[in-house]
Amino acid sequence: MDYGLTWSSLIIFCFAIVYILPTFLYAQPFLSLNEMVPEVEGVVKRSVELHCAEGDAISMFIWNFIKFGTDRPIPIAHNNRVYTETSFLGDIHLKNSTLVIENLNLESEGRYMCQCFYSNGDFTTVYVDLKILVPVTTPMLQINNSTPVEGSPVLLNCSAKNGTGPISYTWHRYTIHEGFMPVPDGTTSVLILSEAKRAHTGWYTCTVRNAVNVETSGRLYLDVIFGPDEPFIEIKPYAVIEKGFSANEQEEVTLNCSALSNPPSHYIWFYNNSQVYSGQIYIIPRISRSQTGLYTCLAKNNLLGTRTQLTVAITVFYLPAGSPVCSARSHNNYKEVALSCSWEGGHPLVQVRWSESSEANHMKMSNSNATKILTGADIQNGSSYTCLISHPGLQNDVRCVTTISIPSGGPNCNAVSTKQNDYIMLTCEWPGGLPRVMLEWNNKEIGDSKESSNIHVLKSTPSYNNKLFTCIALHPMNSVHKTCHVRLESPVLETSQNISVLEGNDAQIGCFLRSANLTAEITWFNNKNKEITPDSQKYGILKGTNWSTLTIRETEWSIDGGFYQCSAFNAVGNSSNSIWLQVNSMYE
Ligand SMILES: *[C@@H]1O[C@H](CO)[C@@H](O)[C@H](O)[C@H]1NC(C)=O
Ligand SMILES: *[C@@H]1O[C@H](CO)[C@@H](O)[C@H](O)[C@H]1NC(C)=O
Ligand SMILES: *[C@@H]1O[C@H](CO)[C@@H](O)[C@H](O)[C@H]1NC(C)=O
Ligand SMILES: *[C@@H]1O[C@H](CO)[C@@H](O)[C@H](O)[C@H]1NC(C)=O
Ligand SMILES: *[C@@H]1O[C@H](CO)[C@@H](O)[C@H](O)[C@H]1NC(C)=O
Ligand SMILES: *[C@@H]1O[C@H](CO)[C@@H](O)[C@H](O)[C@H]1NC(C)=O
Ligand SMILES: *[C@@H]1O[C@H](CO)[C@@H](O)[C@H](O)[C@H]1NC(C)=O
Ligand SMILES: *[C@@H]1O[C@H](CO)[C@@H](O)[C@H](O)[C@H]1NC(C)=O
Ligand SMILES: *[C@@H]1O[C@H](CO)[C@@H](O)[C@H](O)[C@H]1NC(C)=O
Ligand SMILES: *[C@@H]1O[C@H](CO)[C@@H](O)[C@H](O)[C@H]1NC(C)=O
Ligand SMILES: *[C@@H]1O[C@H](CO)[C@@H](O)[C@H](O)[C@H]1NC(C)=O
Ligand SMILES: *[C@@H]1O[C@H](CO)[C@@H](O)[C@H](O)[C@H]1NC(C)=O
Repeated sequence: MDYGLTWSSLIIFCFAIVYILPTFLYAQPFLSLNEMVPEVEGVVKRSVELHCAEGDAISMFIWNFIKFGTDRPIPIAHNNRVYTETSFLGDIHLKNSTLVIENLNLESEGRYMCQCFYSNGDFTTVYVDLKILVPVTTPMLQINNSTPVEGSPVLLNCSAKNGTGPISYTWHRYTIHEGFMPVPDGTTSVLILSEAKRAHTGWYTCTVRNAVNVETSGRLYLDVIFGPDEPFIEIKPYAVIEKGFSANEQEEVTLNCSALSNPPSHYIWFYNNSQVYSGQIYIIPRISRSQTGLYTCLAKNNLLGTRTQLTVAITVFYLPAGSPVCSARSHNNYKEVALSCSWEGGHPLVQVRWSESSEANHMKMSNSNATKILTGADIQNGSSYTCLISHPGLQNDVRCVTTISIPSGGPNCNAVSTKQNDYIMLTCEWPGGLPRVMLEWNNKEIGDSKESSNIHVLKSTPSYNNKLFTCIALHPMNSVHKTCHVRLESPVLETSQNISVLEGNDAQIGCFLRSANLTAEITWFNNKNKEITPDSQKYGILKGTNWSTLTIRETEWSIDGGFYQCSAFNAVGNSSNSIWLQVNSMYE
């Protein structure tokens, strides 16, 4: 459509200005109340298009603006002309009959009226109400206490400076663990936590929304202060006993105390009420029995000055000193064997029990020592019995094995006198076996019972001559006791025949001891009944264990003939024998 001013149109326009418009304005400046005026929304700083009429038959149009609450129309534009004094409404231009307002502001709000003349003479009036919307500005988030103590009230205020209502609010909380989570019931500008909880901790944002836009606030951290809670103590290695916990001596024990708190707890460890460590994890590298006692963890929240504590009892277990002892004794008058297994001391006491290797472990456990009685007659020589020892400080049971046996053979008896024959030593021996063989002399008439070897010393006296001493060997595996005997006898001598030599030759005479239980000494007397000392020029003496020979050198007829005597004595008596030496003269 050509809006160029023709004379005719100018005439019509002037006519309209002068006659029609005022008539129109004053006759019907406003619509009747029940007539709906279409509403258009515009946003501050943006643009809007207000349409007048369709079609190309428009010969003329006029746009007017009526501020709400007033009734005075202000002309804005007509045909292709925009009035300059209307810039308060924004930047106005026309697109044919459409009014385009850019850079809208709050003043742009009001009623717009377009009067339109068609070429055919028709006339119409279009009303549009322009509503100006303001976008919400980025809201500002405030917390009236960003570090509340758990349980106290907190107010979070989300305020957007500008923004046309209605404005809706949504709240979010962010934590590393949970991510972004909507806050339940967070639908207003103010979020009130009547009792702040630790679960409320996190980064908060609020989002405001209106018909125009959505804006989210910066984030604020709500740090709920709490604790410490009741501590929890984690013990490694973990061993529960009736009264607390146990640890084995030399072990590394780790005590880990945890009490939830914000700010994190400060930990202090006490042993029997005296401070031993500051820190969460208390490590005892090699615990000793003297470290048995009460361990207390104290957790402190230094900000609040609050504290909680927990005490655990730790008992340190240890093994007895040395090693277990297993033994076998004769019991019940040598009819039975008592096996005993013992390892005393330690904490707790070791558990011991006997179990024969062949039979099931049905023996009851007992503390520190265990005894098992066996009937001697039932025992097979060389049977082994096992004692099992258990203790918390031992990974596996310790074994202690005892083998019951009787030595082969029987007891050996002998008698020996001392050098000067003052004393007689009776010896009875039967070594080996378990239990050891008990040896008794003459039914304990003399001396005590002794194991394996029983040596008894008697003062020498001739009254023991021909006396029989008996040694009894007692062992549970022998129902009939074995014995050995020794008879003390004075020496019995045997001599060579009477001898005769030719004068000038050597003469040799011998003397033998008949086997006897006691050793005896042989001495020689010459033909003048004088004791012969060995290695003299005249006499030579040779000695064996049970014999002696006398050599008379270069015999002389007038001197060396006669009775020579060999004499033997031991601790219980003496005896002597005489031998006749005949020295023959060469001249006879
Ligand atoms: C104005 O109207 C003419 C004729 O009806 C049309 O060709 C043209 O596209 C319109 N211009 C605009 C900006 O709408
Ligand atoms: C924060 O706001 C809550 C709710 O109004 C109020 O009870 C509390 O006392 C306020 N806290 C502080 C530190 O102002
Ligand atoms: C929220 O903040 C705004 C702006 O700072 C303030 O005007 C308003 O009173 C606050 N509301 C509350 C409940 O504190
Ligand atoms: C809020 O509105 C006022 C007046 O309407 C204006 O001066 C101000 O620039 C606006 N603020 C923002 C952030 O849009
Ligand atoms: C101590 O206990 C806490 C809480 O159970 C746990 O997170 C931490 O890993 C433990 N520390 C050690 C060294 O075991
Ligand atoms: C610690 O206390 C325990 C139990 O009360 C006690 O048996 C132990 O002897 C105490 N240790 C020390 C070193 O005082
Ligand atoms: C263990 O043996 C000791 C002596 O060795 C004894 O005093 C104690 O009573 C014995 N205990 C038991 C339970 O047999
Ligand atoms: C009994 O056994 C042991 C070995 O265990 C052996 O030395 C001994 O000679 C045996 N005794 C008999 C009487 O066989
Ligand atoms: C040895 O000689 C003596 C003296 O002549 C004599 O009495 C004695 O009987 C003789 N003995 C033997 C065994 O011949
Ligand atoms: C003397 O002892 C030996 C062994 O030392 C023995 O062979 C001999 O028979 C014994 N003689 C007498 C008479 O007992
Ligand atoms: C000891 O005397 C007894 C009895 O006369 C005899 O049987 C035994 O063999 C003697 N022992 C020794 C070592 O001579
Ligand atoms: C030898 O034995 C007799 C008794 O048999 C005794 O009278 C005498 O004194 C003994 N002699 C020696 C040297 O012991």
